[in-house]
Amino acid sequence: MKWRTAISVQKDGELYMRGVRLVDLIGKASFVEAIFLALQGRFPKKNETKMLDAVFVSLIEHGIEVPSAFVARSVASTGNSANAAIAAGVLAMGDFHGGAIEGAARYLQSKETPRGIVAQALKNKEHLPGFGHKVYKTEDPRTHALFEKARELKLPQTYIMRARAIERELKRASGNGIPLNIDGAVAAVMSELGFGWRLGKPFFILGRLPGLIAHIEEEYQNEKPYRRLDSEDVEYVGLPIKKHNHK
Ligand SMILES: CC(C)(COP(=O)(O)OP(=O)(O)OC[C@H]1O[C@@H](n2cnc3c(N)ncnc32)[C@H](O)[C@@H]1OP(=O)(O)O)[C@@H](O)C(=O)NCCC(=O)NCCS
Repeated sequence: MKWRTAISVQKDGELYMRGVRLVDLIGKASFVEAIFLALQGRFPKKNETKMLDAVFVSLIEHGIEVPSAFVARSVASTGNSANAAIAAGVLAMGDFHGGAIEGAARYLQSKETPRGIVAQALKNKEHLPGFGHKVYKTEDPRTHALFEKARELKLPQTYIMRARAIERELKRASGNGIPLNIDGAVAAVMSELGFGWRLGKPFFILGRLPGLIAHIEEEYQNEKPYRRLDSEDVEYVGLPIKKHNHK
């Protein structure tokens, strides 16, 4: 069976991506424009390029404390090369870290009403992806910045307004002002830009990769190999310790 692709083709010794000669893109298209072209098969408009650029900037870094960063650094510290450390960092992402963009974009792009979306999450005692944060308890400043940019760039506001409507409904139904976080904001903006929900996790990876690589490189440059937890950070909760003479 043939492997079919509409992404690119080699013709007469040249690579064409989405019908455009790769060498014609070099130095002319920005990285963000090329990413848009690869994923959607068309060049973005000027405001779309600026918006997508802002999305990736908003995701680029969030501290050594987050699982993908410290896991990547641990794996780098035990003598692995950068590709293994990057892969480990990416695998540390999940539904509660970075992965929520996918879930949020999925319900934003669904036909379900804000009331239905919130009711189902509360009934199942599930955390609604795209809401809540370990640090930002009332407002995620990145959400505000992204939505301000979207307004300034005159982007459509359909999914952004839907995300805010879900935020209001979550507050009404749970009595708790759980804020729309960066994952929820990125989910709304990527939906406005025409990207499907399955690209949620890849979007987080695309944006966070430079930050992750910076952590890995810093680990190699500045730290001694072999990271270990401090014993003060570990609590033993097992059986009482006793001498045992095994016969
Ligand atoms: C990020 C997250 C793990 C933070 O959890 P946390 O620190 O326990 O959050 P809080 O302590 O502020 O939660 C306060 C209350 O709001 C609830 N809550 C938090 N996030 C919620 C959400 N997304 N949907 C519904 N309820 C939520 C908690 O269950 C808690 O309720 P309780 O007091 O009855 O137990 C959590 O909000 C979450 O799972 N969010 C969804 C995943 C997500 O978007 N992740 C990306 C983060 S950038």
